[in-house]
Amino acid sequence: MNKRKILVTNALPYANGPIHLGHLLGYIQADIWVRFQRMQGHDCSYVCADDAHGTSIMLSAEKAGISPEDFIDKVNQEHQQDFADFHVDFDIYYSTHSEENRELSALIYERCKANGHISQREITQLYDPDKGMFLSDRFIIGQCPKCKAEDQYGDNCEVCSSTYNATDLINPRSTISGARPVKKASTHFFFTLPEFSDYLKQWTRSGTLPDPVANKLSEWLESGLQEWDISRDAPYFGFEIPGEPGKFFYVWLDAPIGYMASFKKLCESREDLDFDDYWAEDSTAELWHFIGKDIINFHALFWPAMLKTSGFRRPTCISVNGFLTVNGQKMSKSRGTFIMADTYKQFLNPEYLRYYFAAKLSSNPDDMDLNLEDFVQRVNSDLVGKVVNIASRCAGFIHKGFDGELAAELQEPELLQEAQAMAAELARLYEAREFSRAIRLIMTLADKANQYIADKAPWVLAKEDPQAEEVQQICSSGINLFRLLIIYLKPVLPKLAEQSETFLNIPSLQWHDASELLQAHKINKFKALMTRVESDKVEAMVEASKESLSTEQESVNTEATNSPLAQDPIAEEIEFPDFAKVDLRIARIIKAEYVEGADKLLKISLDLGPDKDGKQQTRTVFSGIKSAYKPEDLDGRYTVLVANLKPRKMKFGVSEGMILAAGAGEEIYLLEPHAGAQAGMRIT
Ligand code: MSP
Ligand code: ZN
Repeated sequence: MNKRKILVTNALPYANGPIHLGHLLGYIQADIWVRFQRMQGHDCSYVCADDAHGTSIMLSAEKAGISPEDFIDKVNQEHQQDFADFHVDFDIYYSTHSEENRELSALIYERCKANGHISQREITQLYDPDKGMFLSDRFIIGQCPKCKAEDQYGDNCEVCSSTYNATDLINPRSTISGARPVKKASTHFFFTLPEFSDYLKQWTRSGTLPDPVANKLSEWLESGLQEWDISRDAPYFGFEIPGEPGKFFYVWLDAPIGYMASFKKLCESREDLDFDDYWAEDSTAELWHFIGKDIINFHALFWPAMLKTSGFRRPTCISVNGFLTVNGQKMSKSRGTFIMADTYKQFLNPEYLRYYFAAKLSSNPDDMDLNLEDFVQRVNSDLVGKVVNIASRCAGFIHKGFDGELAAELQEPELLQEAQAMAAELARLYEAREFSRAIRLIMTLADKANQYIADKAPWVLAKEDPQAEEVQQICSSGINLFRLLIIYLKPVLPKLAEQSETFLNIPSLQWHDASELLQAHKINKFKALMTRVESDKVEAMVEASKESLSTEQESVNTEATNSPLAQDPIAEEIEFPDFAKVDLRIARIIKAEYVEGADKLLKISLDLGPDKDGKQQTRTVFSGIKSAYKPEDLDGRYTVLVANLKPRKMKFGVSEGMILAAGAGEEIYLLEPHAGAQAGMRIT
């Protein structure tokens, strides 16, 4: 076999807060792939680290009253614990705040500069005079310059979806000190990305990226790239730019370099690994990045350009995962579906989640829904009901009648051969990251194995003669089918596999072991390998996730500014005729759809019922509710439309009215009338 050298990286989580189930999707996906490669016998190194730099982390440390170094150390330990508990098996989990990373970041910067790819110019930004620091858009709120909505962030308005510069906000204030920001100029350093556009057009189409991702990038590449601002002014927690006192690398410059730094650190303790072997321009090793869909541009534009000009190899492949929703909606603290890894594991077995994710993952960056009912049902029926059940049904007879010894000759050789032959197709599916298809195939095998045992009913035969040869043969075939299932599931369920290896009394299973069978072999006593998921545990987990909010709420509220949970003060009093001017109607959602390129908006077609001539009236509105609803979940629902609002031309089309939703911060709830309300009814 051709032994591959593979380096796998996972996106580096911010050292700013705990790992949640959304994060875990991408880590579990990569870990399954890595475990599969290792089972194949390839050299597969798997590295990760905390992304430890940036303003948010600096401010969080300050709030906690400790140094940023102490803060990131503490978070690093928590993250490592979470990953270990979910069996994410990194070879190293490092930090971007390391000497290796400082040196590599400086090196790459120097090379970019030497090749003429760093420019500098003065830019004007908002500055918090009380705090003495520049403010990024996220730390400024004010009134939207377009629709005048209060408390909008510095880059875009959540009410009217317009985008603008923070300097355009009306009455802006700093979320840190509450001070009114002032404009201040400062010199920034830029990476001249546009000079790489031809290279990137070709590189992004070279098979490195999933098609939908390459298509998205094409749009950006066609509309023209901008220079990338890679510097931040002090105070900033990060690396100072060599030769530029008071200027720091923007966190996203040194973050991907953290992949290299982690690997470099790993090489120190591993004789068999050589840094240049994996990173030199002409390296023949493979480099795989697993990331979420929100950070594509950093990995597929800036990163390959920086690597190219600084003489390092480019990634072989970038694997992109979509976002996780829970019960069809964005994870929500108030619904208890913003579930932390740590909360989950207090109630449920991490392998359940690994299995559920695997059963739904593909190589495409589609969003994934964790439906908690489906989760319970699937894990119970597949893992407990089908897989583990085979072993528990067969093992007892082998011990009772045959002293734990499997038969020398097995029954049903065709079924066993068929099961062994699946190894090739399953390997292809794992390699292609088509895990859901692999799981489906594995479950068809589990069905056949259960059917076989049910047809043969060894318990009937054993009643007459517990030592009948046939009983031993049937149950030994059953145990062998179980063993093959475990080989195939091992990348997903490493713990179950380990327990099964103990039960089967065999060394750690590798992929090629599928070509052999266990005959005349003594197995150990069967112990329960996996218990059913109990629905009340799931409910308790959701409850506990709500509880952890209340403590968080308190700490958020002490921040005073822009708490997503603080209610706006009631608006100024108006006269009834003013209110009566607003024509509110019940509307039925005919269809909701995503808007190409819009982060927040859904395009919604509405039925307003018939007009006086009996003709159906329809409207199209753009509404900023994408974060909370999937289009298909809205189809057919009723809601409330401001029907006489003057049509507004927006970037993506004309919006004819506005639908009503209640919101606080991230949370959005569409208004819905009681059942029975008809489209077109006026609200009075
Ligand atoms: N620090 C950056 C990555 C730097 S990589 C050089 C970052 N950190 S993060 O903590 O915000 O996210 C870590 C990973 O989790 C990213 O791949 C991100 O896309 C992913 N996810 C975060 N929330 C997620 C969901 N709700 N669902 C799926 N993936 C999610 O980005
Ligand atoms: Zn607005």
